[in-house]
Amino acid sequence: MKGKMEKGNTMKKMKNAKRGLLAVATLAATVAASAGSWGSAAEIREGKMLFERNCASCHGAQGSGPGVDWKKKMADGRFPPPPLNGTAHTWHHKPELLARIIREGGKTYGKAFDGWMPSFGEKLSAAQIESVVKYLHSLWPAEIQKRYDKQFQITATSHITHKE
Ligand code: HEC
Repeated sequence: MKGKMEKGNTMKKMKNAKRGLLAVATLAATVAASAGSWGSAAEIREGKMLFERNCASCHGAQGSGPGVDWKKKMADGRFPPPPLNGTAHTWHHKPELLARIIREGGKTYGKAFDGWMPSFGEKLSAAQIESVVKYLHSLWPAEIQKRYDKQFQITATSHITHKE
């Protein structure tokens, strides 16, 4: 009898613990979405996954850069891939241009850069590229996000037009 009650209590405790975990997970998802201020938590999650598969090898984990000074040429004469996490120029470019750089690769820059970034237009859909851009935005410091959103009139549900 006593054993049964204890078992019952343990089950109850486990259920409560599960409920608690669920609450924490829901909270984390909400925080992720609002901290980024642009895009849903699902889009940002997808963008992160795509970034890790396609971009991190050059641009570093979380867009932190390749671990060398991105303003200095490498031994082979090319500039390294820049960080994308808000410490370089990425946030100076409007969303359509960021999407275009990803779609068409480094040649988008013309002669301003070496243009050796590969194009992803064949590999990623417009929606996937948009998720990646939203993920990049989520990596930037809040202050930069605010300036960016104001300049380019971005709200949480804005979409990229993919025209330019
Ligand atoms: C083979 C290395 C490489 C890969 C992989 C790569 N990039 Fe790049 N990326 C570069 C280089 C190099 C530049 C600088 C322009 C140039 O020389 O092509 C650049 C530039 C950029 C820029 C412009 C940054 C700025 O501050 O102006 C963005 C945005 C960008 N990459 C995003 C991505 C995303 C997103 C992916 C994955 C889908 C990706 N890159 C994959 C090498 C790479």
